[in-house]
Amino acid sequence: MNIIDIINKTKRNRQLSDEEITWLVSEYTSGNIPDYQMSAWLMAVCLNGLTERETITLTIAMRDTGDILDLSGIGGITADKHSTGGVGDKTSLIIGPAAAACGIYVPKMSGRGLGHTGGTIDKLESISGYRTELPFDEFSEIVKKTGFSIISQSGNLCPADKKIYALRNATGTVDSIPLICASIMSKKLALNADCILLDVKYGSGAFMKSYDDACRLAGLMEKVGASAGKKCRALVTDMNAPLGKNIGNALEVREAIELLQNKSRGKLYDLCIEITANMLEMAGKGNLEECRAMAENAICSGRALDVLRRTIELHGGNPQVTEDISLLPRASYSYEIKAAADMKILSVNSEEIGMTSLILGAGRTEKDGRIDMSAGIVMNCECGDKIYKGETIMTLYSSVCSDFTEASHRALNSIEKILI
Ligand code: URA
Repeated sequence: MNIIDIINKTKRNRQLSDEEITWLVSEYTSGNIPDYQMSAWLMAVCLNGLTERETITLTIAMRDTGDILDLSGIGGITADKHSTGGVGDKTSLIIGPAAAACGIYVPKMSGRGLGHTGGTIDKLESISGYRTELPFDEFSEIVKKTGFSIISQSGNLCPADKKIYALRNATGTVDSIPLICASIMSKKLALNADCILLDVKYGSGAFMKSYDDACRLAGLMEKVGASAGKKCRALVTDMNAPLGKNIGNALEVREAIELLQNKSRGKLYDLCIEITANMLEMAGKGNLEECRAMAENAICSGRALDVLRRTIELHGGNPQVTEDISLLPRASYSYEIKAAADMKILSVNSEEIGMTSLILGAGRTEKDGRIDMSAGIVMNCECGDKIYKGETIMTLYSSVCSDFTEASHRALNSIEKILI
């Protein structure tokens, strides 16, 4: 087998055999195929796609490059949740604790920021001391004790995805339905929970810009999950505007904690309830209506916050952040963007907001770049809001960039408005 033939086949829209795909994944993971050839193949996939059969084979081949976890020792129904990525999406920090507080186990493996989107692992690392890389036994013990744990793709889990994910991020090959499906599902299948709930995003801040593409991705992921014998459900949800008010690592942890402290409601809360309820229902905890009530109760009663507190502590993080959010990193510089006239907000381009947050320091512009945990944006408005002259539209934060000229232009241009 040879890599040039494989690149050419995909470039010419010819289907690869199972053997070719398995060989490609295993040779790239072992370092026998260089990044430049893999990038060429990834770009061919972005342009021409893969068949359903190729995508299933790619997913299984990626899963099989590493360990498949045995979660049976946890001793209960396990449910995993994954979002395809968005701007301001801190739902895992809310849903995991809420579902655990309702009696199911949520062992979760998350990723870092990709493109303009944030990653849960980066967010968690803004909590001082929180260890995102744990040996499997410790991870499993935490899940047994609190019901919930999030670790990074550590150890020998899906090494193929680890390499391919970083390469895609640096070569403009992220936004492809089969590649996103294989990337996410290989990790989900390696983690090996009983139930998998996928939150497939569409809109300006998502990798899938259209609702139809998101439905295609959702359907493909459900098929891949079912072909591997899992209970797998995908919800298709709106990412046309950032989710919640805060974008950026520590800022998002802050917003998640405030929600679990019962201090906020709105679209973020509603989505978290819906996803948690679906996980509970898949795990056999009742019908959707009953499961929604259970999820609400877990948050309102403070039980979900307690799960988060205990989990942070067992990960070596400072549990006091759950009571005192001022312990999270704070930016050295900030800049308020104010309305120059009375206006109505028509839409917010969340990809642009994500990119603005990235240039403020909250994301990576290079493969292994460092990020500023304190950086990001707090939105003071949503679509449909009226903002009057002198009022703050949003505030930008950074500790690495004190000149907000570029970021503020970009942020302002991301908002479509009319004067009133
Ligand atoms: N999240 C992933 O894990 N992989 C992707 O390709 C996109 C989002």
